Amino acid sequence: MTSTIAQSTELPVQRCPVDHATTGAGPAAARPVDREEALDFLEQFYSESGAETPFEQRLREVDLEIDETGCYTHTLDELTFGARVAWRNAARCIGRLYWKSLHVRDLRHVSAPVDVAEGCIDHLREATRGGRIRSTITVFAPDRPGRPGPRIHNDQLIRYAGHRTETGEVRGDGRYADFTDQVVALGWERPSPAGRFDVLPLLISSGHGKPEMFRIPSDAVLEVPLSHPDHPWFAELRLRWHAVPAIANMPLVVGGVTYPAAPFNGWYLGTEIGARNLTDVDRYDLLPVVAQRLGLDTSSERTLWRDRALVEMVRAVQHSFDEAGVTMADHHSESRRFLTHVAKEEKAGRRCPADWSWIVPPVSGGLTPVYHRYYDEPDPTQRPAFLQPGEA
Ligand code: ARG
Repeated sequence: MTSTIAQSTELPVQRCPVDHATTGAGPAAARPVDREEALDFLEQFYSESGAETPFEQRLREVDLEIDETGCYTHTLDELTFGARVAWRNAARCIGRLYWKSLHVRDLRHVSAPVDVAEGCIDHLREATRGGRIRSTITVFAPDRPGRPGPRIHNDQLIRYAGHRTETGEVRGDGRYADFTDQVVALGWERPSPAGRFDVLPLLISSGHGKPEMFRIPSDAVLEVPLSHPDHPWFAELRLRWHAVPAIANMPLVVGGVTYPAAPFNGWYLGTEIGARNLTDVDRYDLLPVVAQRLGLDTSSERTLWRDRALVEMVRAVQHSFDEAGVTMADHHSESRRFLTHVAKEEKAGRRCPADWSWIVPPVSGGLTPVYHRYYDEPDPTQRPAFLQPGEA
């Protein structure tokens, strides 16, 4: 058994007893829904997808609901279509060929932080499926005028802590040192001794409320211990990574309605972990360690020791996920699939905006077909969309 699903008998969520500072909701929470945006979306939905209710009738319903409440309620089909198209429009994502298969969990009735936490934990379990990862989004309550929806402050549901040590170094994920400081200040009891792969708690606030903290039970976090197909010493480094990347802080905007908490996940590409998370100098910075174990000459850049260690790192990640039976893409196959997606979109008469610098993988860029061309410019006004954190 190469994957570790730790058992936990604890309650699924634990409230943090500490009182926290209030966080402000974005401007979308104050405004009524823009009718133009609602209309544009409904037109798109009806032209691409269609529905039983005639278009004119649906339009009248939506108009009336906006008159009365300043907002309107998407049908489940509209929400599902909206979330899928938001993915289709995500210019930085190479995995968009699968946009139609996004599994949508409708938790729009949920807004209390404790319930949002529970919904996130269920999301992880449902999306993980023991390793057969399923692209999933959970949509919590939207912003309504005077009633902002909940917010998740973590950038992903699962992230590892970065513990600042007395020597000024960081143990764990350097990128999360500030966030770790923040949750510690709010009362998070960091594991003792501090580890390199300690899963951070969820930090969630209701629309008007203060952030509350919730522990993620370890049996909701599938992790893969890393080993190398040729080098037994690699396992001695005791590295690991979690199976599910789930972005948690990008608001989903559909037809003028903002859903500030709508965590979504796909599956990993080996390079994200092997060529970024474990190797970026401000993250785990592990290339020197791997190079040394490989016996490479690190005395000069010109030996290309970094490049050689990097390839072995990505190999180890890919090998370990495969061994553990956890879904993971490789950059060569995924690049080809992405071009299939671009061609399909062109055939459907749609623009397919893409951000070259995000699409091209961080290793062997020129070996992949996505490198050798340009794409439609990303359009920040395109909707439905996932916005940058704080944009809504
Ligand atoms: N690059 C991010 C990470 O390493 C994950 C971003 C989303 N990735 C994905 N395959 N859906 O955690």
